[in-house]
Amino acid sequence: RTVAVVLAGGSGQRIGLATPKQLLKIAGKTILEHTLELFEQAPRVDEVIVMMNPGFVNDAEAIVRKAGLGKVTRVLPGGTSRNATTQLALDALSHYSAENTNVLFHDAVRPLLSQRVIDDCVTALETFQAVDVAIPSSDTIIEVDDDVITDVPTRSRLRRGQTPQGFRLSTIRNAYAKAWNDPGFEATDDCTVVLRYSPDTPIHVVAGEEQNMKVTQPVDIFIADKLFQLSSSATPEFTDGDYTERLTGRTVVVFGGS
Ligand code: CTP
Repeated sequence: RTVAVVLAGGSGQRIGLATPKQLLKIAGKTILEHTLELFEQAPRVDEVIVMMNPGFVNDAEAIVRKAGLGKVTRVLPGGTSRNATTQLALDALSHYSAENTNVLFHDAVRPLLSQRVIDDCVTALETFQAVDVAIPSSDTIIEVDDDVITDVPTRSRLRRGQTPQGFRLSTIRNAYAKAWNDPGFEATDDCTVVLRYSPDTPIHVVAGEEQNMKVTQPVDIFIADKLFQLSSSATPEFTDGDYTERLTGRTVVVFGGS
């Protein structure tokens, strides 16, 4: 049995609006609704749980009801950090079988996740106890201390972590139980918790996609909106002199021409 947990407990401070970013509308629907629909449509996902910013649980419930999302069994308040929200989701799954349950944690603010990635994660969990999704980095990543470079890790070995992150329920439960016993526990995702507190568990990495962006900064709203337009519009507008090329299955207008 595969349960998807959609993490929507944040408030979107880097975007800086009064409304959490998961409730912003892009391409006619809230980001949260787009994301929930992806799991609703995923054939190998059996159930969806939404962890919502505590002040907006009613809004999330209304979205689930209006969109008729039958796989969503619960909308629950999230915690004060992403990891606290994950723990509350694990608490909600306390009566689920540790052996027969896989759980996929996904950021609500990644509404452009593909069915291919969801499917690859479910498949990977047949073999592995933990799975991450990541893409190569186009940028060189530098490590700094007070605005001074301390290291430049080899780019070809670096990946940018996305979500979903998937686990056998027993694996993620045990890792979190140990993590909370560590007074210095701090992380920004769930794979880090397994890496640190269940270090013998190999974490398989599935290839992610650039489109699976996390809406984090104000500019991301415009980029995500444009990506939704591209995925829905059949023929883009173009004028005389422009010509088109195919790019990852889409027709794009390029400068120049024959
Ligand atoms: N998240 C959560 N519970 C929290 C904090 C974050 O479930 N207490 C979720 C967010 O809702 C988001 C995902 O984790 O879907 C990724 O986090 P991030 O992009 O950092 O979201 P925010 O915390 O909302 O953003 P910010 O850091 O700018 O405030």
